[in-house]
This record gives sequence, structure tokens and C-alpha cells, in this order.
Amino acid sequence: MPTQMDAEKLRRDFSVLARKKGAGVPIYLDSACQTLRPKQVTDAVAEYYESYPACGGRSVHRFATEVSLRCDAAREKVAGFFNADGPNEIAFMKNTTEGLNTVLFGSGLKSGDEVVTTDYEHNSIHVPLIQLARTKGVKRRTVKSADDGTFDLNAFEELVTKKTKMVAMCLTSNVTGHTLPAKEVVDIAHANGARVLLDAAQAAPSIKLDVRALKVDYMAASAHKMCGPSGVGLFYCRSDLSDGLGPLIFGGHGVTDISVDSFNLLPAPEKFETGLQNYSGIIGTGAAIDYLDMVGLDEIRSHEIELNKRITRALHGISSVTLLPPLDPNLRGGIFSFNIQGLTGHDVAMILDNSRNIMMRSGMHCCHSYFRAHGLDGCARASVYLYNTQEEADIFIEAVAGLARSVPRRR
Ligand SMILES: Cc1ncc(COP(=O)(O)O)c(C=O)c1O
Repeated sequence: MPTQMDAEKLRRDFSVLARKKGAGVPIYLDSACQTLRPKQVTDAVAEYYESYPACGGRSVHRFATEVSLRCDAAREKVAGFFNADGPNEIAFMKNTTEGLNTVLFGSGLKSGDEVVTTDYEHNSIHVPLIQLARTKGVKRRTVKSADDGTFDLNAFEELVTKKTKMVAMCLTSNVTGHTLPAKEVVDIAHANGARVLLDAAQAAPSIKLDVRALKVDYMAASAHKMCGPSGVGLFYCRSDLSDGLGPLIFGGHGVTDISVDSFNLLPAPEKFETGLQNYSGIIGTGAAIDYLDMVGLDEIRSHEIELNKRITRALHGISSVTLLPPLDPNLRGGIFSFNIQGLTGHDVAMILDNSRNIMMRSGMHCCHSYFRAHGLDGCARASVYLYNTQEEADIFIEAVAGLARSVPRRR
């Protein structure tokens, strides 16, 4: 696990944290939304605009060749990061949502087909499934979480049948931080002939994901939660499945043999990358992968859990502070979601921002169905990452405890 010193050292790479203490340095606890970006990433993005700001894969001049080579290198890095079989299994998209939608709408689900999912999905799976039910009659089967907030593997196994065409699930919840047992889920799904789509938006930043060992079929993540630029999605599609998966959008670059009334799609990944791409973002993503490899995912994960244990130990005993389960910080990675009696999540986030320079997320976190099912209006969520320190955790603890004490208790 990185020591406190390591996190202190890494902080120097992040310009918003590298200011002198007391000079308005924020305590950034919103990494589950977007992480901060190290200089290595912002330099790579700036280099694109300053040195070869052209279009890849089309023009034949030197700038364009440089862009193509750098984008190819970034794709290789992402493929290596997920242990994909090769770079063609990785497509760059705009975010996780686009990857998830590509599979849900592009794999030919039809009336009566069943998709098994969880009761804590982000809207990026939840909403497409409602739309598929409305427009195609696709049925959703939902695994109810266990009372302790963990994924119920037995309940899952009972729901998966030969009617199940797809298992579409959030690997790590952005609300509770809980990670489901992916290998078991994939094995059960495959034994029933179903394909598996994993939403790895929250898992990929700190859990080593080996798509070949997992045997997962499709996976989506977002570079902006992994020290990469905003607006870059990482999409994995196993090579033997890509011919059967259609793109979401059609146009230039993803097609060939175009005549007056016909065209053919190029093979993956090109067919998923229609139109001019986010080259600076893709190149910056390559730098982000290098950065995460340099720090080490296992080290990041242990660091998150150590900080979360410290926060949980200090705040869990306060009666007006309610923690969203699971309670064990080992099961929650870097996520600490909570409510303070008498305040909304937005109240908590705004007060801590204004009074202590602590930045968190609040509300329903695009998981409205989870909160509605639990009768909650939302929550405040603190999420730690590789650059957060014990000192910051202690300031957060003191701020939350102080705020909880200051609110008159309801009888
Ligand atoms: C679990 C989970 N899935 C999907 C998403 C959607 O990611 P994006 O907005 O990058 O598409 C998020 C974003 O917070 C998330 O946390």
C-alpha cells in the first residue's frame, strides 16, 4: 500500500493540489465522478494541440500520421490494461454510457428476450432497459440486493434461465461502492447461454480487470474516472462478437464500399468510431494508462480502502450519520455514501464546500431507482482516490462530525 508519503508525492503531479498549503487547496472527494488529472495527462493533451493538432486516419500528411500513431499506441495501452486479446477489441467512445448503449441497442434484443440486471444500476443501464421494454418488449429481471447491501449471487442464479439473453450489470456501484463477484456472474450467465455486459465505470479506476480471465463479453468504462481526459469512453467487445454488434451511429470513417445506395461497415473498432474523434482525449488516455500503471492498481485500491476504513471507523458510530451499506469498508473501495439526519445530501455538500473547501457529490447520483426503492431523497458521497491523504480524511471526519452535532435532533 502506498504510504502517506507516496500520496503526498503523487499530489505534486496534480496542479490543483500542488499549490501551497492554505492557498485554497481543495479537499477533492469527488473522484467517483471525475478524477483529477496529472500533469502527464494534461501535457499529452496540450502537446496534441500545440504540436500536431490534426485529424487521424484520414489525411496523409505528417501531422495526421502522428495522430494516427499516437491513437494506435493509446489503444494498445488500453488493450494491455484490460488484458484484451488485441487492440481491435478496444473502441474509443465518449463515455461509459455510449458503450453500454451500443451493446443494449446493437445486439438485436427482441420481444420476450430477458435481460438480468441489479437493483442498483446507474441510469446508463437502467434507462436503456426501460426504453428497450417500451420499444421492443424486452423483459427486465432484477436481482434484489441482500439486506447487507451486497450482491445476492443465489438470487442471481435463480433468475438466470435459458430465456436470459443478456446480463447487464454494474460491476462496482457508484452509490455503495460494492463490487459484485464478476467471475461467478459470467460463468453462471454463460452456462445459460447469455452474454455479459459489465459496466466497469467505477471498477476500472482501481481494480485490475482481466477481460480474458473473466471471459466477459462486453465492458465499458470512462477515462475521466481514471485520471484521463473528460469525454473518453473505453469500450471492450470480444473479437468473436464484434461482427454481430451494430454501431449506434452511422456516417464517415466506420464504413467502406459506399455507393449511391449501399455501404458496408468496417470491422471493429472502426465501425464503432464514426465521425471525427476526440484525438487529444484518446492520446491523453494513453498517458493516463501509463500513469495508473506507474502507480499500480493494487496500491490504489489498498490506499482507498485504508482511507475509507479510517473515515468509517470515525463516523459510523455517530447516531445521526447514516452510512449506505455495505458497512464494511473493505467492500466499498473508495466510496463513503452517507446522510446526516435533518439535512439533505445537497445541504451537506454545499456546507462542506463553503466552510471547509471539501468537494463531494450529492443527490441521487444517476441511480434514482435505488434511492426510490430505499425511500431516500439521495445522499452525500465522498470518494477518495490515489492523491487523498490521511490528513484530508481527518479534516473530512471532523467536518462531518461537527456538522452532525450542529443539527438539532428530531424526536
Ligand atoms: C457505475 C457507473 N456507470 C455508468 C456511469 C456513466 O458514466 P459516463 O457518464 O462516463 O457515461 C457512471 C458515472 O458516474 C457510473 O458511476
